[in-house]
Amino acid sequence: MAISFTNRVAIVTGAGGGLGRAYALELGRRGARVVVNDLGASRDGSGRSDVAGEVVEEIVAAGGEAMANGASVTEYDQMEEMVARTREAWGGVHILINNAGILRDRSFAKMEPADFELVVKIHLIGSAFATKACWDTMREQNYGRVLMTASSTGLFGNFGQANYGAAKLGLAGLTKTLYLEGAKNNIRVNTLAPVAATRMTEEMFPEQAFKLFSPESVTAAALFLVSDDAPTNAIVGAGAGVYHSVWVTMNRGACLAPEQRTVEGVAEHWATICDRSADFVPQAGSEQSQVILELLQAGPTSG
Ligand code: NAI
Repeated sequence: MAISFTNRVAIVTGAGGGLGRAYALELGRRGARVVVNDLGASRDGSGRSDVAGEVVEEIVAAGGEAMANGASVTEYDQMEEMVARTREAWGGVHILINNAGILRDRSFAKMEPADFELVVKIHLIGSAFATKACWDTMREQNYGRVLMTASSTGLFGNFGQANYGAAKLGLAGLTKTLYLEGAKNNIRVNTLAPVAATRMTEEMFPEQAFKLFSPESVTAAALFLVSDDAPTNAIVGAGAGVYHSVWVTMNRGACLAPEQRTVEGVAEHWATICDRSADFVPQAGSEQSQVILELLQAGPTSG
């Protein structure tokens, strides 16, 4: 059955180009009223232009409803104003896709502290600010779908992207607490790790691959993750028509006997401490202490 977004109001940050534009166009095509947020920055965050207005024109030309918003996600008062205007025009906010971002790549040795700070500010703090600005509205409505944009760099690492990776894993962390806090108000929060040919990644892809990794193939996963039947607390990867999931797991580890709770004891039991044969996926941080208590009750691990 077709998945519709009729009667939904969606905000997509950084939607003036690349992935955000593709999400906004498809949301518009599927009936959502879309706020196209973007301040029109270049890839490193400098400069300004009216790219949001251009995407709005595209949505409207295709028969949809949209409004442009040129606010920066890093300014909380601007995010509040964006939400206030959206509510005024369309009565609510049901969907937020946190997608805005920039790059300031350099090896950590050469990275300026200011470049670390700015990248974390736009990706992590910006997503937290946009989400916070929508949160009360979503709670009042008893409906919210929030998507964070992470990256393989955050989840697994990438040379030259310490600032970006720290911010991106932070977003997966933000998802993991917000999904718990939003659950009773039907707010679902997920994380997407896309791979797409955009200006952000243009040097990465040979020309052939550039066509394969279309933003539209990522859009399918992004929109599912903000649909009525979306899961919550999922981390989903998407690129070129391949979709997968990523998990934060833990093992049960080892309970060491009191006399073995030493540096040497940890070294001797390292293989058991790292044994992944009984990995599981905790649903909340408290499960770490639960597992510890269970192991303590069972007594020292043999071997
Ligand atoms: P893009 O550079 O085409 O789009 C990012 C947009 O964010 C730009 O239009 C920019 O003007 C806007 N923006 C920057 N700072 C802003 C601010 N302070 N407030 C509002 N808007 C702002 O890049 P792309 O590839 O579409 O990236 C979208 C998201 O996906 C980003 O969060 C990026 O980190 C993430 N991502 C992309 C991957 C890819 O393969 N393209 C891989 C992993 C993650």
